[in-house]
Amino acid sequence: MNKPNGGTIYTNTWVAELMLDLCDYVPENNLAKIRVVDPSCGEGSFSTEVVTRLCQSMERYRFSFLDLADSFAAYDTDGRSLKIARNAAYHVLREHAASADEADYLSRRWFHLADFIESDQANVDLVIGNPPYIRATDLSLQDRQQYAQQLQTFTFGTDIYIAFLEKGLRMLSPKGKVCFICSDRWQKNQYGTRLRRFIAGSWIFSHRNGPMISM
Ligand SMILES: C[S@@+](CC[C@H](N)C(=O)[O-])C[C@H]1O[C@@H](n2cnc3c(N)ncnc32)[C@H](O)[C@@H]1O
Repeated sequence: MNKPNGGTIYTNTWVAELMLDLCDYVPENNLAKIRVVDPSCGEGSFSTEVVTRLCQSMERYRFSFLDLADSFAAYDTDGRSLKIARNAAYHVLREHAASADEADYLSRRWFHLADFIESDQANVDLVIGNPPYIRATDLSLQDRQQYAQQLQTFTFGTDIYIAFLEKGLRMLSPKGKVCFICSDRWQKNQYGTRLRRFIAGSWIFSHRNGPMISM
């Protein structure tokens, strides 16, 4: 992974490509109706590849740019990074023959300068990316209180990536997937207890009453 100034860790392109392949998000498929969310896009490691594949799929299946308004959404709280990711998406769209108006409309619609935990996405087919790592104790008191109110797994002792996992799982369509490159510490340690219970409980529920959460 690349480590730019500020300690935020960005994902290498080949990792994003591999993860999208593993999720079957490939241009050979019709991607127009698959709803994808990148929860913390940074400078666009995932979003640039998602938009590229979407355009390649469009050329194959002949849907129009206007069909793609709800195909993708990306979030970040850092305006500088978000602008870089949005510009990259704009240029990919233009390279694939979108008009300036279409590229401008889609890149503005898709990229949100906002907290992913506060987002209101639903019925998402794929939540994919590299979440931030921030200890709860390094978050503002207001954020901690809001996250703890909204989420079952977030405590004042956890890391924000736990909140990203639960939030991602909650917004999925019945057959949706969450695919994150992230630490596996939550699978064993104390602060991951609630997330493990949340996933196990959802899995049991899904097998009794039809699918609810899949990973
Ligand atoms: C580990 S970096 C990953 C960036 C990008 N996904 C990549 O893989 O290259 C995490 C990103 O999360 C963003 N971030 C931090 N808190 C956030 C929040 N509450 N909502 C959305 N993005 C956030 C940071 O600004 C940073 O760009």
